[in-house]
Amino acid sequence: MRIGVLTAGGDAPGLNAAIRAIGEMALRDGHEVIGIANGWAGLVGDFDGSPLTAKDLRGVIGQGGTLLGTARFNLDKPAGGRECVLAAIGDHVDALVAIGGDGTQRISSWLAERNAPVVGVPKTLDNDLPGTNYCIGFDTAISIVAESLDRLHTTAASHHRVIVVETMGRSTGWVAALGGLAGGADMIVIPEFPVTMDEIVEHINRRRSAGLVYSIVVVAEGINLTILGGAEMGDLSNEGVGGVRHATRGVGHFLAAKIEEQGGFEVRTTVLGHLQRGGSPTAHDRIFATRVGAAAYEAVVAGKFGMIPVVRDDNVVLVPLSTVAVGQRKVPREIYDLCAVFF
Ligand code: F6P
Repeated sequence: MRIGVLTAGGDAPGLNAAIRAIGEMALRDGHEVIGIANGWAGLVGDFDGSPLTAKDLRGVIGQGGTLLGTARFNLDKPAGGRECVLAAIGDHVDALVAIGGDGTQRISSWLAERNAPVVGVPKTLDNDLPGTNYCIGFDTAISIVAESLDRLHTTAASHHRVIVVETMGRSTGWVAALGGLAGGADMIVIPEFPVTMDEIVEHINRRRSAGLVYSIVVVAEGINLTILGGAEMGDLSNEGVGGVRHATRGVGHFLAAKIEEQGGFEVRTTVLGHLQRGGSPTAHDRIFATRVGAAAYEAVVAGKFGMIPVVRDDNVVLVPLSTVAVGQRKVPREIYDLCAVFF
């Protein structure tokens, strides 16, 4: 069997571990593994894929990024991209494993509805894919946030400053909330539970009055700025060149300026940005990616198409792609409340 593998959307640490798991298991069983370059782009126009060898897969488990390359490629602009992908799958592979987040799995689900032999693998550093507690890249991202907060605490304390730390998280606050919890954030601002400027400034003032002369405020890049007295920037897109990116909104700098203006504190800002996505994956991400990669391979050989392995109660189970292809998984109230106990 020719098993195609692609990684689409933003990269995330752990992608190579998943590719390795699928590839090594397939080669062991005598299948051909076709590495498709740059996500869906490799299936539109001239086919861009080539067989992976054992040598290609050696030593990659600890490497960040994706050895296949990836792209934010919109199959609907111009229209007709999905149909090209559908035809290319039929022409070039007998099965396809698509590793990616919500956008990728929406396409996988669409393809599966048209009987394409597709299996998904959950990846998004934002960790907001519905139907799974966990996605490839998230553990590395929150570990980087936690380590950054440890470092920022010492300098904030020495200077009696407020430091605002902006994390990734386009629509949800998983990275800010759990990275902030692990790193001892003094306040966390996420899209799911908006707070006003008055509430933020009062909280920092309360800490000051209690003798806590510094504060670390973690904010997710995707918060609604209007609640904090700002203006929105119109249509946001991370595709191609020239779009307004989420990071461009500058929520960290905006919040810092507001805190300084309204509270009179000395404030600094750190935007963690792509540092959260780069470098080698944590052991947890390597193991998780290996588990879901292996489960995706097993689904392919068993002919269980239209499925995606997800983690529930620490077990990897297969669920239909349609269950992860709608909306985003939000941070629940109890997790945010637990974070807030330590503010
Ligand atoms: O989708 C994951 C994500 O990391 C978001 O948190 C962030 O807004 C986006 O990717 C950045 O994407 P790009 O690297 O394409 O600018």
